[in-house]
Amino acid sequence: MIRAYTPDDEAGVRAVVTAAFGGDGEKVARLADGLRATHARAELVAEAAGVVVGHVLLSRSWVDARSALIDVLVLSPLSVAPEHQGRGVGTALVEAAVAEARRLGAPAVFLEGSPAYYGARGFEGATQRGFTRPSTRIPEPAFQVAVLDGHEEWMTGRLVYCEPFWAHDSVGLRDPELSHIEQMFES
Ligand SMILES: CC(C)(COP(=O)(O)OP(=O)(O)OC[C@H]1O[C@@H](n2cnc3c(N)ncnc32)[C@H](O)[C@@H]1OP(=O)(O)O)[C@@H](O)C(=O)NCCC(=O)NCCS
Repeated sequence: MIRAYTPDDEAGVRAVVTAAFGGDGEKVARLADGLRATHARAELVAEAAGVVVGHVLLSRSWVDARSALIDVLVLSPLSVAPEHQGRGVGTALVEAAVAEARRLGAPAVFLEGSPAYYGARGFEGATQRGFTRPSTRIPEPAFQVAVLDGHEEWMTGRLVYCEPFWAHDSVGLRDPELSHIEQMFES
């Protein structure tokens, strides 16, 4: 079951995010806390037998287009408890988040992630759609967007992340992982 986050979910969400992201878990959980406190526009949990097993957050960022600053959404973080992975929970959370973004009237949802995973779930390369990465430390194929009904052709430009992504040093990758992933995409 996918439903909206409530304050009672705080501990359950922290446990899922921490477990899903392994060594980066604490940092990503602090990012989720920071986004929730300031720029979150929607937050969903997946529940199984009364226990939180997945989580996704949509936060407000901007596209700095030539004629206006455009409000957009960023899907991050997305987490599924390791013991529940591979059963469609992540897919259901992505679909529910995009549906929520549509309901909110967002013209686009951005994320950083595997093009194989998200490409099969409605996302496409954002650079090819005319958007510029907020950092060159996001490997180009990982910079993805789902363009929604409210989008118009002129709404292109640089994605400007809201402050918590920077405050928690959660933009893109850093070496040596950055070089490793770049080489993987090149080969
Ligand atoms: C990525 C994640 C959310 C997927 O959730 P999930 O519930 O396991 O996903 P689903 O069951 O809906 O989909 C499973 C598919 O995703 C693939 N997949 C899982 N993790 C992946 C990853 N990191 N990169 C690419 N593909 C991945 C599986 O191989 C499987 O592929 P298949 O359908 O072709 O067999 C989950 O693995 C997770 O929490 N990972 C750790 C945190 C993370 O990396 N979050 C995303 C950051 S962008």
